[in-house]
Amino acid sequence: MAEYVTLTYEGRSYQLPVIEGTENERGIDILRLRTDTGFITYDPGFANTGACKSGITYMDGEKGILRYRGIPVEELAERSTFKETSYLLINGRLPSDRELRNFSIMLNDHSLVHEDMKTFYQNFPRLSHPMGILSSMVNALRSFYPELQVTEEEINFTVTRLLAKVRTMAAMSYKISRGHTVVYPRPDLAYSENFLNMMFNTPVKPYEFIKEVVRALEVFWILHADHEQNCSTTAVRVVGSGRVNLYAAISAGMSALWGPLHGGANQAVIEMLSDIHASGGDYRKAVERAKDKNDSFRLMGFGHRVYKTYDPRAKIMKRMCDNLLEALNLADPLLDIAKELEEVAVKDPYFVDHNLYPNVDFYSGIVLRAIGIPTNMFTVMFAIGRLPGWIAQWKESMDDPQWRISRPRQIYTGPLETHYVPMSEREPS
Ligand code: ACO
Repeated sequence: MAEYVTLTYEGRSYQLPVIEGTENERGIDILRLRTDTGFITYDPGFANTGACKSGITYMDGEKGILRYRGIPVEELAERSTFKETSYLLINGRLPSDRELRNFSIMLNDHSLVHEDMKTFYQNFPRLSHPMGILSSMVNALRSFYPELQVTEEEINFTVTRLLAKVRTMAAMSYKISRGHTVVYPRPDLAYSENFLNMMFNTPVKPYEFIKEVVRALEVFWILHADHEQNCSTTAVRVVGSGRVNLYAAISAGMSALWGPLHGGANQAVIEMLSDIHASGGDYRKAVERAKDKNDSFRLMGFGHRVYKTYDPRAKIMKRMCDNLLEALNLADPLLDIAKELEEVAVKDPYFVDHNLYPNVDFYSGIVLRAIGIPTNMFTVMFAIGRLPGWIAQWKESMDDPQWRISRPRQIYTGPLETHYVPMSEREPS
């Protein structure tokens, strides 16, 4: 039976329908609110706004639950691969053996990047951030591959091409930034191995695969593959709602991800830990600064809009970080500082009262450092991982029968009507 919430104002009542998701999440449908009442809602940062119905990812921030297409992320991190998880997110179900093999073949077939793109790479200023380069180059893909995406087959083709090429483009930007020869993708290597090989193989020192490193990269990408309506995914949906091409929508998501409060946090965490290390290792000072309302400093890698308990991805990442450093026989002083910082912060009344726990980025930077990824490439690594999620969300929004161009309202607080004053009549300043 349909349920309603009643809004009463100045003696009149309005019935607003209640909608409920499969996990009993409840929302109030305000589609007719302005037409019926003249009111809009005010919700900066969209903290209480559901902008879509989605069947891709479920998270419960109070219980620390994260599932892709119903499957707990812990199970995927334990048993799946990034390729299979990408298929799951984009197509809505796990692939059969044959489907996964075909997907692999397509990823391999489309992994080369147009040679003319190298010219663009070579002309970015030396100090360009890899996220700026990647988001620009993804947008530029539309010029190299201008085919229309109309039929389901064409869309699948474009999607797979993007998944295949972004990995190559990311490795290519690293090689070119170092002045090294670009390494081409190899059809005999799996998705993560191929990336590591393109990043680290050189003519003088062939890259040697270490199974723990390959697995760590797979798990890192699986954990980042989707996270429902976060800042960058919302950017993809909002930009996509104007019916731009897929490349432009994904490029917008990449730009949003770059920010230090979002995907750029993994780089910011390492910079923060390095600063603490360089100034003698006093992590308590950082905790005190983060609590000081007169100081804009925040503990990077702490806090989350939705998780009000431990981020389930952070738990897996922390465990993986320990295992990886042990397998590689590496000692990282930043890991020691991170652990001590975490221990102090999670017991501190400020962090407890504000529900601030480590998020996925708190330990991911240390994992990436151990793999050999340079710090300014960390957010690019996140972007490669988030790509299947962005694609799945973009596809879902394109097929949404309730699709509308994104166009929020505002409460205007500027001047009332005033009139143009010619320069000769204005007050001198
Ligand atoms: N350190 C210190 N205080 C914090 C932190 C932090 N990391 N995060 C939030 N707070 C405090 C705020 O000062 C505020 O305090 P107040 O209510 O006393 O004024 C309160 O907690 C709520 O903070 P908001 O900024 O309103 O929370 P919001 O949900 O908007 O922001 C965010 C979430 C952006 C993730 C925030 O916690 C933050 O800046 N964290 C650090 C950056 C980071 O790690 N980002 C990665 C997030 S995960 C991801 O995107 C992959």
